Amino acid sequence: MKILFYDTKKYDKESFERVLPEYPSVKITYLETELSENTTALAKGYEAICAFVNSDLSEGVIRSLQKEGVKLILLRCAGFNNVDSIVANECGITVLRVPGYSPEAVAEHAMALALAVNRRIHKAYIKVRENNFSLVGLTGVTLHGRTAGIIGTGKIGAAMCRICNGFGMKVIAYDKYPNRSLDFVEYVSFEEVLAQSDLISLHCPLMDDTYHLINEDTISKMKDNVILVNTSRGALIKTDDLIRGIRNRKFLGVGLDVYEEEGDNVFENREDDFLEHSVTARLLSFPNVVVTSHQGFLTEEALIAISHTTLQNAVDFEQGSINESNQVK
Ligand code: NAI
Repeated sequence: MKILFYDTKKYDKESFERVLPEYPSVKITYLETELSENTTALAKGYEAICAFVNSDLSEGVIRSLQKEGVKLILLRCAGFNNVDSIVANECGITVLRVPGYSPEAVAEHAMALALAVNRRIHKAYIKVRENNFSLVGLTGVTLHGRTAGIIGTGKIGAAMCRICNGFGMKVIAYDKYPNRSLDFVEYVSFEEVLAQSDLISLHCPLMDDTYHLINEDTISKMKDNVILVNTSRGALIKTDDLIRGIRNRKFLGVGLDVYEEEGDNVFENREDDFLEHSVTARLLSFPNVVVTSHQGFLTEEALIAISHTTLQNAVDFEQGSINESNQVK
């Protein structure tokens, strides 16, 4: 099985090379080139290509890949909202992904964001580097004894519930399908999560009914001085409404690993660009906001797990026995 990797980053290559000896039938060619209609010709002669969460897998790209003879798209990620799965199906191309790799990695990043914005670690780091040892502006709250509200208690949300429980927080949650194994969590309505929580962390998927779940109306139902964290998908939050809420001093802090405009930024170095009118620039202007670049998954353990499942998906396909729970239909 020959696989062409698009959009390869240094850390992708390192983790795949570490596990590759365990999959002797697989040969990988790594390209830094982005996947687009202009670059699908490079896939000629490859049965499979490997792409990431931000890769363009829209209709035109998939049809071009089919013309080059590609039979399998391997996603080295969980998310697949970038894939036109109907067209892939029509073209007879199988799409396999990595549904869960290290939920704890993402949940730990969510808590890292909550702690950073609460205790102003991002400000303290810069201040001390400049020999400014003043504590003014750095006051946070003690999380112990406060209420964490988790929206979506699947794999990552459940891990976040356990972390918050370990911090001595009361944990409440909203999910359409409560996870009964989380016996320390009190399931309440979405409105009650908004009204009672000191820390709200979003862990539900982006779907029609969760698009702009956090908006002017739902923000107005939150407690004043709430901490809001999003490591799930940017469009769960209506950014203009969030910015209005931040301006109105609604939030103690906001931590975002994902945000609506991230498409052009994610995993790119844009140091020399002017962000002009972007909402990202507006978000970054607030002292109580920390934005990271979709790095919740980025731990050694998660990268190794992603590499193993991706290559196992390739081998399973080759042997005609795919794991259907990994298939994007
Ligand atoms: P999961 O499928 O295990 O859990 C999602 C949970 O959300 C389920 O329990 C589901 O019942 C619940 N849910 C669905 N609709 C809901 C609604 N309207 N309100 C409340 N809950 C609802 O997914 P998992 O693995 O926990 O991932 C969660 C999200 O994290 C993914 O959708 C993905 O967008 C994001 N993610 C982010 C990463 C990062 O690097 N920042 C990495 C991996 C995933």
